Amino acid sequence: MTRHFIALGDAGGDAVAAMLGDAMDRKAARQALPKGLPDADMPLAGHVLALVFEKNSTRTRVSFDIAIRQLGGSALVLDAGTTQLGRGETIADTARVLSRMADAIMLRTDDHAKIEELALHATVPVINGLTDLSHPCQIMADLQTLLEHGKALPGLEVAWLGDGNNVLNSLVEAAGLMKFNVRIGVPEGYDSDATFIAAARAGGARITVHRSAAEAARGADVMVTDTWISMGQAHAEAKLAAMAPYQVNSELMALAKPDAVLLHCLPAHRGEEVTDAVIDGPQSLVWDEAENRIHAQKAILRWAFGQI
Ligand code: CP
Ligand code: NVA
Repeated sequence: MTRHFIALGDAGGDAVAAMLGDAMDRKAARQALPKGLPDADMPLAGHVLALVFEKNSTRTRVSFDIAIRQLGGSALVLDAGTTQLGRGETIADTARVLSRMADAIMLRTDDHAKIEELALHATVPVINGLTDLSHPCQIMADLQTLLEHGKALPGLEVAWLGDGNNVLNSLVEAAGLMKFNVRIGVPEGYDSDATFIAAARAGGARITVHRSAAEAARGADVMVTDTWISMGQAHAEAKLAAMAPYQVNSELMALAKPDAVLLHCLPAHRGEEVTDAVIDGPQSLVWDEAENRIHAQKAILRWAFGQI
């Protein structure tokens, strides 16, 4: 059966753990190599990955392109607006055509139903490069970054501060699979998807929702935040005002454990959800996190092709 990576749960906890191990092993094995040279074993030699973007991207675009090159394959980067998809060709027909021309498809889009539709009609693996609902590839890189910095996942106390968005949904999903806890510090009216929370709780994670940012942050092992205004959302003054108390600044960081780390998927809006002092400070792992998009995606691709 074709393996799609639309959600972390498509792989499951054991496969996620195996992918994270593979990502770290491959990263270590190629430290001395220039970034564009393939890994010695070229496990996806000759494979073509189509990257389809209906929204902007820096990290996802570059990291998937570099990831498939390092695995021995190549990428086609398609801005949906310049394809026939942008003129109304159906997702189903696009899936059928791209399945004949490429070996895997990554889609970044708005409505999550679109990626489900793509996967339904594709005969090659489909990977979720972000939708309005979720961002599972990002969370793979985040988990890798935590492991590399000595944070074992089970029982970890992860605090999320800010908007209840797509990245948070995937973080919560990961909590249920990998058995860590999430304290969600989000203002009323901006809560994340209740289905993800219920599933994570059913999986054994402790997920709590806090209206007080301090309460969410106190004693946390990991602080995570993201933009207050995601792509496709209106830039509303009311939302910015509601988010202001959830800014990750030095005072909030000081409430977390002394060895707590900061994650942010980027791009950051410095002075909004995070201050310069924190994102540029000693607890910030954001540049490792960004680099790990390459390594985590290599593992996702290898999983999609049945190599993990
Ligand atoms: N974090 C992330 O997905 O970044 P891009 O929007 O630049 O791809
Ligand atoms: N929540 C953000 C993540 C960007 C990588 C967005 O959807 O715009």
